[in-house]
Amino acid sequence: MKIYIPLDSAAKALGADEVAEAIQAEARARGLEIELIRNGTRGMVWLEPLVEIEENGERLAYGPLAASDVPALFDGKIETLGRVEDIPFFAHQTRLTFARCGLTDPLSLADYQAHGGLTGLRRALGMNALQIVEEVKTSGLRGRGGAGFPTGVKWDTVRMAKAPQKYIVCNADEGDSGTFADRMIIEGDPFCLIEGMAIAGLGTGATKGYVYIRSEYPVAIDMLRQAIQIARIEGVLGASVLGSRHAFDMEVRVGAGAYVCGEETSLLNSLEGKRGVVRAKPPLPALEGFLGRPTVVNNVISLATVPVIFEKGAQFYADFGLGRSKGTIPVQIAGNVRFGGLFETAFGMPLGQLVEEIAGGTASGRPVKAVQIGGPLGAYFSHDDFATPFGYEEFDGQGGLIGHAGVVVFDDSADMLKMARFAMEFCAVESCGKCTPCRIGAVRGVETLDRIAAGDAGAVPLLTDLCEVMKDGSLCALGGFTPYPVLSALQRFPEEFGTVKEAAE
Ligand code: NAI
Ligand code: SF4
Repeated sequence: MKIYIPLDSAAKALGADEVAEAIQAEARARGLEIELIRNGTRGMVWLEPLVEIEENGERLAYGPLAASDVPALFDGKIETLGRVEDIPFFAHQTRLTFARCGLTDPLSLADYQAHGGLTGLRRALGMNALQIVEEVKTSGLRGRGGAGFPTGVKWDTVRMAKAPQKYIVCNADEGDSGTFADRMIIEGDPFCLIEGMAIAGLGTGATKGYVYIRSEYPVAIDMLRQAIQIARIEGVLGASVLGSRHAFDMEVRVGAGAYVCGEETSLLNSLEGKRGVVRAKPPLPALEGFLGRPTVVNNVISLATVPVIFEKGAQFYADFGLGRSKGTIPVQIAGNVRFGGLFETAFGMPLGQLVEEIAGGTASGRPVKAVQIGGPLGAYFSHDDFATPFGYEEFDGQGGLIGHAGVVVFDDSADMLKMARFAMEFCAVESCGKCTPCRIGAVRGVETLDRIAAGDAGAVPLLTDLCEVMKDGSLCALGGFTPYPVLSALQRFPEEFGTVKEAAE
């Protein structure tokens, strides 16, 4: 009998370790032989700790379980949820990037290969660098960190650059509020990221990779370090990738916890041991990145999606999605929702369907008031925007952004003026200080919002003016995007900023 219990951080926070210990103890007490596997999560956080028991070719789920439920579980007195694949939240997904997450043993290379792992890398080894880059371009993959820049174009810039050393840097400094996809895949399927980075190395001529990961992710750090060690021992990484004439190795570097270090140039400074301050672009990191060498800086999900593209073919991937948003997007549903978790779907699903049907509306049972998409720098959307399909251009057209695809839901008790103030305060706290619109603007933004909160609706034009300056004049996305939550809250909920009240008076 195989028993799967997630080692994912969210499952652990909900008691997965205690359940695992109780299962071991109960099996020992009953003289039962079990194989206990700590897998990644299936992504349905409200069901964690979710235990799966595989017996006689059938794998059934039980959850959420507490340690005290374990004797009843062994007695067959806990009702099963059935197969995970049949649970509606899971059944509605198109899992390409996350296909193995939660299904396999994350540190078993044999399990990884039994589920399609390394097929993509083997195929890439039979291609030259140009063909690899063309394959990524054909897939339509765009940067999943937030900016949506075409991954193949970025790789091509690095491929064509002439330098004695090139690098692949993976941005795992997942700082957006409500996001957890990077952590989840590293904890649940770390070989997938390793394989994606190795393919990126082959496509660009880079032989060294770094994963810059936030210190708040100790489980992911540990899993990735173990997986890299296994990949080295098994010949996936090293002087001869899978016995080929290509070399690629990688290591993990831990960040110290600044939001701005998720910005690529700041991240590179931090990786070089310097203070995490933004560098002006140009030069692009693709030409002068880590230690001044051509560097691909890609988000975890962008790189972890590469293996499936090479396994199934670029066209297979590109056939999913909508317009220029090709493939799938792992949406992270959080905040005040009934069903929170990771939902991977082809681009194109309307926002309202995600919030009301998939997430099941609010956990509080109150009406949905606002949805923030794309982290603390993302716009607030309201019911009026629910027809917007999930796509880069579609969200942009509504004055918002997808960002890293975090969806945070609020009910009608949310105070939108306070939310706008929070955005400015966040920017003031996290600003690297390099440019004036952000360093000073965010502080003035907090003060102006305080004036509005005190009843001075005349300060509203000042706020919009300030937002325009921050948008146009900031050096990076932190200062440049802070106006999104502020202006969207003001535009969609003007009455909360006293503007309607003033007109009425
Ligand atoms: P950007 O638009 O400046 O650049 C996008 C990427 O394309 C960069 O890697 C850039 O170096 C590269 N690039 C641009 N032109 C290129 C060319 N010709 N050749 C090769 N590479 C080229 O955007 P930025 O500042 O990197 O990212 C902003 C985004 O980050 C925002 O959309 C925001 O949503 C997201 N973000 C994500 C966070 C997270 O936790 N994942 C946190 C904060 C922001
Ligand atoms: Fe630094 Fe803010 Fe300017 Fe970005 S916008 S460079 S975080 S001061």
